[in-house]
Amino acid sequence: MQTIVWNDDAVDLIDQTKLPHELTVFRAATVAELIDAIKRLVVRGAPAIGVAGGYGVVLAMGEADPITDPDAFARLTDRLRNARPTAVNLAVRVDEVLAVAGEGREAALATAHRIKDDEIRSSTAMGERGADLVVSLVEGRSVRAMTICNTGGLATVDRGTALAVIQTLHERGDLEIAYPLETRPLLQGARLTTWELGRMGAPYRLVVDSAGPALISRGLVDVVVAGADRIASNGDVANKIGTYSLALAAHRSGVPFLIVAPESTVDGTTATGADIDIELRAEAEVTGFGEVRFAPADATALNPAFDVTPAELITAIVTDQRVVRCQDGERPE
Ligand code: MRU
Repeated sequence: MQTIVWNDDAVDLIDQTKLPHELTVFRAATVAELIDAIKRLVVRGAPAIGVAGGYGVVLAMGEADPITDPDAFARLTDRLRNARPTAVNLAVRVDEVLAVAGEGREAALATAHRIKDDEIRSSTAMGERGADLVVSLVEGRSVRAMTICNTGGLATVDRGTALAVIQTLHERGDLEIAYPLETRPLLQGARLTTWELGRMGAPYRLVVDSAGPALISRGLVDVVVAGADRIASNGDVANKIGTYSLALAAHRSGVPFLIVAPESTVDGTTATGADIDIELRAEAEVTGFGEVRFAPADATALNPAFDVTPAELITAIVTDQRVVRCQDGERPE
């Protein structure tokens, strides 16, 4: 079962809001349904929302003709493009399909399929390259790898980014244990990464977010691997809130801190992390979970979904095409 499938003129998505208890499909047959799915995190993870966005342009072509009704078409695709602001992949992939929309629906659909195939290929490449790098950095022992959020097949289409590295280590017999962080407030680590690790048969122990830096400082972690939502030209990286604390702790303890992301996440138009738009999500995600409200009725909350890790805290960025050794002064652009 793939995370995203174009099926009978609609986009079928594994509904990530229901995992791990229910494995169900959410069917987005309109642009509005797809935007709703992206905003509610039915589909999430930078590469995955990029793939979904590509198919969304094809849906838009069924609702407004790009040639005869360009204004209505632009309104639809602008809303899609901006459904979530931090992960650059959404805008990049929407634009890639828009670039061929004038050639007709078949050309647009072929591009959306090509984007999905690209992400599948690049996940395998990142897993291999990242695992090679980890083994070279963590010489002579089976690896204890910490990770945050969900960066597996659910966040891409197959295998993933940082979690693909952990999967490859496991398949090669080089993984001692994975420590996924639960990832407050929406628990992508506790709900999704554990589910994926379980399916691959990899050993893991789930830890609360605040335990991450403490475990690193106690020498229980050989490497931290995280994904990225946007990588600025100078190597600063936006990723799930909590990534920065792990990078600080890893830096202080001399533990390698790796970012794993496809080239589609590198944004040459964003100079530094300070230029990245950080999504602020609903207060209710912090004051409660699902139907349960645990904070007082009048509690207010601040809910940034991402943080920025400066390049100087990153050992290396691993993409599907290269390793950028930030620690040695290299930068992605
Ligand atoms: O809010 P989310 O769940 O979409 O956040 C996802 C992340 O932060 C991932 O680490 C990132 O998109 C890389 S996924 C391969």
